Amino acid sequence: MQKLTLGHDGPTASRIALGCMHLSRAWDATPLTNEERRNTQALLETALTHGINLFDHADIYARGKSERLFGEALRAAPELRRNMLLQSKCGIRFADDPPDTPQRYDFSFDHITASVDGILSRLGVDYIDILLLHRPDPLAQPEEVARAFDDLHAAGKVRHFGVSNHSAGQISLLQKHLRQPLVANQLELSLHHHHLISEGILVNQPDGNAAHAAGLLDFCRLHDIRVQAWAPLAGGRFAGDADDDPVTVLLRKLADAHGVAVEAILLAWLLRHPAGIQPIVGTTNPARLAASCAADTVELSREDWYALLTAARGVKVP
Ligand SMILES: NC(=O)c1ccc[n+]([C@@H]2O[C@H](COP(=O)([O-])OP(=O)(O)OC[C@H]3O[C@@H](n4cnc5c(N)ncnc54)[C@H](OP(=O)(O)O)[C@@H]3O)[C@@H](O)[C@H]2O)c1
Repeated sequence: MQKLTLGHDGPTASRIALGCMHLSRAWDATPLTNEERRNTQALLETALTHGINLFDHADIYARGKSERLFGEALRAAPELRRNMLLQSKCGIRFADDPPDTPQRYDFSFDHITASVDGILSRLGVDYIDILLLHRPDPLAQPEEVARAFDDLHAAGKVRHFGVSNHSAGQISLLQKHLRQPLVANQLELSLHHHHLISEGILVNQPDGNAAHAAGLLDFCRLHDIRVQAWAPLAGGRFAGDADDDPVTVLLRKLADAHGVAVEAILLAWLLRHPAGIQPIVGTTNPARLAASCAADTVELSREDWYALLTAARGVKVP
């Protein structure tokens, strides 16, 4: 698996990462199952075998159960930690926690630092490599975030920091107050949700800027902030055998031509972009993960890349 750097001189990561959101599927208080434990172990083995070293979590995934499953697998094989980069996120708070509260975002010092303690405890590790702020908090005070990051960094609990779902302006404001460089911005990006890429061809067009992400991809490149693509498989949307969906049909054709699965072409489309986009693949199926990793060997031609973009947009480029 080819590698890339997060940030200007941050950690070296595999260019495809494993998203761990669905390790446990139940976002409730039901206990972990042995089936989930077995599958997590198999998935981890497959990821490491195929050269994946970055594992993406969040404190909220399955209400902490996905991190707990991963932590259990690590405790059974602690030597694996050495070859892993562990990334997690905080800042989203569930409704009714405590009772009668709305779902909300919280970048306060107390919430960020307490969340990291929870993450470390569930994963059973002393530090995580990267902490991302999950979704922008309109009430965030950048100076307070900076104090939390300094505290976590000085305590050796977090080595690098980044954001998710943040705009260029939000990143600039935050970075102005931080001592540590933001190394990643994790954003939804796939052939289904392609605005970050397609808005770039719509400069000064009437339908441009639809996703309020104008220039965000280039901003991240300019500032050495790695763009991580969440939901890069579009949640399996293109997996069927529909003959009336141009994207699905073209993906199948290219998959056959390259001798790989459709998932590999979906990811190869992201990898072909010169920004060095890092897909965070969320499958829980070891065979599907292995098939996805074949994207590392596929270099799409300019023509095939544009044909996929055109099929996804449903209209030719201007
Ligand atoms: N930062 C954020 O706000 C944010 C938001 C969402 C997710 N994330 C991160 O991004 C990662 C990936 O996102 P994601 O899991 O939502 O999206 P994804 O990687 O696009 O899709 C994975 C999901 O699609 C299913 N799938 C994929 N290919 C399929 C196929 N051929 N047939 C049937 N099902 C198929 C998978 O099922 P199987 O498990 O059965 O393969 C899995 O449920 C997450 O794990 C998480 O780490 C971040």
